[in-house]
Amino acid sequence: MFKIVKREEMAEGTVILNEIEAPLIAKKAKPGQFVILKANEEGERIPLTMADTDPDKGTITIIYMVVGKSTALFKTLKVGEGFQDVIGPLGKATHLEKVGKVVCVGGGTGVAVLHPITRALKEIGNDVTCIIGARTKDLLILESQMKAASNDLRVCTDDGSYGHHGFVTDVLKEQLDAGDVKLVVGIGPVPMMKALANLTKPYGVKTLVSLNPIMIDGTGMCGGCRVTVGGKTKFACVDGPEFDGHQVNFDELMLRLQAYCEEEKSCYEGFCTLQDAS
Ligand SMILES: Cc1cc2nc3c(=O)[nH]c(=O)nc-3n(C[C@H](O)[C@H](O)[C@H](O)COP(=O)(O)OP(=O)(O)OC[C@H]3O[C@@H](n4cnc5c(N)ncnc54)[C@H](O)[C@@H]3O)c2cc1C
Ligand code: FES
Repeated sequence: MFKIVKREEMAEGTVILNEIEAPLIAKKAKPGQFVILKANEEGERIPLTMADTDPDKGTITIIYMVVGKSTALFKTLKVGEGFQDVIGPLGKATHLEKVGKVVCVGGGTGVAVLHPITRALKEIGNDVTCIIGARTKDLLILESQMKAASNDLRVCTDDGSYGHHGFVTDVLKEQLDAGDVKLVVGIGPVPMMKALANLTKPYGVKTLVSLNPIMIDGTGMCGGCRVTVGGKTKFACVDGPEFDGHQVNFDELMLRLQAYCEEEKSCYEGFCTLQDAS
């Protein structure tokens, strides 16, 4: 068993942080890589990016939004309990390079995925501005951690309850207009990544996005995570999850993510009914 040693609830209990004992993974993992977890024997395999690792302590940290049956099941796990399987590190690590001015943009739980990447980009000498956003102030996560990981932090909320009133793309546009931006890294909901890739394209600024298609094996065998990048088929689990945002077919990705909506909804409702009854 991979034991949970720390558990926190964020964003009004919709986002959960678990620090898990996984010494071999903690030793090897690099920013941008993910793990696949299974809560129990019958559990579904769920991919989650490592938001942090501590090789000395032998732990990895995952931060996930509760959106369906498996993440709701994960939420019930307490400190001292754990996951039956944690496989990783999977996927390609972020290509880290000193380029100068970098803007890291995160939305929702994408902020958790962005955290180790932002920190690593700053550590190698880039001037990193970070823009994070949420629908409202109470749903914002990791503000102090992102402030420490970057040179300058900008916060946006859709409803104006905190920071800039509006989308992360508004603040990104200001940064692009000011010039000198050499790289944008954007991680969040697919419509957000699509919007920011469309924004940066006319400026000719390299833009990396981290794709989250449905994954099953995570090792390039099943084809479930197929995405189209630059007109070519790629498997996000082994070729990604990061890709050139200007080349990604986001509309296809959104369609494929909706493929099992009905089944996911009824599974989640069934789980919630069982939980309420127990
Ligand atoms: C490489 C990668 C890294 C990710 N990192 C994070 C993270 O750090 N934090 C976070 O909150 N979420 C992350 N996700 C998304 C997370 O895997 C899904 O939210 C989770 O699988 C939902 O499972 P569920 O049973 O709770 O919900 P379900 O009701 O089954 O599904 C809800 C939605 O989640 C997506 N989803 C469902 N099953 C899978 C699957 N097997 N693989 C991928 N997506 C699925 C679909 O879009 C679906 O519509 C990541 C996804 C990928 C591919
Ligand atoms: S998850 Fe099966 S090929 Fe990527």
